[in-house]
Amino acid sequence: MKIGFIGLGNMGGSLARLVAQDDRYRDGMLLANRSQEKAEKLAAEAGGQPASNAQVFAQADMVFLGVKPAQYAALLADYETVLKERESLLLISMAAGLPLATLEKLTPKQHRWIRIMPNTPVAVGEGVITYALSELAGQADEDLLLEMLSAAGLLIKLEEKQLDAATALAGCGPAFVYLFMEALADAGVQTGLARETAQQLAVQTLLGTAKLAQASQQHPAQLKDQVCSPGGSTIAGVASLESHAFRGTVIQAVQAAYQRTQELGKK
Ligand SMILES: NC(=O)c1ccc[n+]([C@@H]2O[C@H](COP(=O)([O-])OP(=O)(O)OC[C@H]3O[C@@H](n4cnc5c(N)ncnc54)[C@H](OP(=O)(O)O)[C@@H]3O)[C@@H](O)[C@H]2O)c1
Repeated sequence: MKIGFIGLGNMGGSLARLVAQDDRYRDGMLLANRSQEKAEKLAAEAGGQPASNAQVFAQADMVFLGVKPAQYAALLADYETVLKERESLLLISMAAGLPLATLEKLTPKQHRWIRIMPNTPVAVGEGVITYALSELAGQADEDLLLEMLSAAGLLIKLEEKQLDAATALAGCGPAFVYLFMEALADAGVQTGLARETAQQLAVQTLLGTAKLAQASQQHPAQLKDQVCSPGGSTIAGVASLESHAFRGTVIQAVQAAYQRTQELGKK
């Protein structure tokens, strides 16, 4: 089977690299990008063949669209004729905020859509991909997607109306976590650690904490209590964070990202 990728930037490129890890799919991959060098570089590194957008739409059985949400309409309009002639294709949208109903209006009605919302840690196999299917997409399409992206991390099917919330939490979440990571490392430097050491400690603390939370399946509040001894240093830090409305600030950040995702989807 031929699997096309159009748009090989941060996210499209990461997903193409993931799919290329599987021998069954690598040779059938067609890689297209506006600047051709990206497609050539990826093909040399990971496998697959550089191609044009037109070749992808004419030959692939499944197409991952990795362009920006605002570019979907123009891209699909440019290839309307070839898309009209093709039998049902499986199209994968990773565009933040674009609903399936909008995507379906951009293509002839025989095509099937799956809307996915990946986050950047898919590049290291520890990502989250939430997804929803259009009415025409069926179980075989879902099974194929799950098999193809199994190395990405956690894949969770959601009702489409929940995808914007998943975008705000898991899609945007890495940026919020990086801010926290940077702040921890800055604090380490301020209290006398070398930058490199502070950075290592911050990254490993976040990684280990996430792994422990995942393994223990306890509520974060219980795990937090286990670190806080009475009258100790940790509870002093927790009290300081709470005096600055730490949790409320994070909740507002995710809400702002959610609202913006919804606004962008309406444009
Ligand atoms: N980054 C994330 O964390 C993230 C998370 C979830 C979903 N997404 C979604 O992933 C999509 C891509 O985002 P991104 O962050 O990966 O953006 P990006 O790094 O800017 O990648 C977009 C790519 O599309 C290429 N492109 C633009 N127009 C094209 C066209 N007409 N034909 C072929 N290729 C074209 C660009 O080529 P050039 O090299 O020429 O610029 C670029 O390589 C978006 O829809 C976004 O909502 C991103």
